[in-house]
Amino acid sequence: MAGKTAFASGVVEMLKEDHAKVKGLFEEFESAEGQEQAEIAATAIVELEIHAELEEKLIYPAIREAIDDSDMMNEAVEEHHLVHVLIAELKKLKPKDEKFHAKFCVLSELVKHHIEEEEGEMLPKAERHDIDWDVLEAAVMKRKEALMAKSSKKSGTKSRSAAKSARRG
Ligand SMILES: [Fe+2]
Ligand SMILES: [Fe+2]
Repeated sequence: MAGKTAFASGVVEMLKEDHAKVKGLFEEFESAEGQEQAEIAATAIVELEIHAELEEKLIYPAIREAIDDSDMMNEAVEEHHLVHVLIAELKKLKPKDEKFHAKFCVLSELVKHHIEEEEGEMLPKAERHDIDWDVLEAAVMKRKEALMAKSSKKSGTKSRSAAKSARRG
């Protein structure tokens, strides 16, 4: 149905915007140093955690129910699991630690691979199926706002976006 396709692109476009943002942060990380690099990493981690929660709690279950490809969905969930493992380990390290840089680069490679599979396979497949995209989009947007509000309260000036909005405000 044409109407449903239009709504599909709302959720899918939001996911692709998140992907582009985090890939941009990975690129900035490569050329940054010191405190700036630590802030870029902290921002990327917040972005990834919010994005992962939206996919795990709302988007993946909706896609899983609509399409018949549990192998693809299980693989995506395992990749998310590794992302969470790496993030938990990064949080225990100081950005100055030489392991931090190596681990963050592995995270970046993993996420870029994962994004390629989502954009190249999972999302096009999902868009061809009958998902109630308008209901999903409303739920995703509501949850995203709540998660962003929670993370900006929690992170203080640790992440770059929080520091920036604090300067703006
Ligand atoms: Fe994603
Ligand atoms: Fe994902």
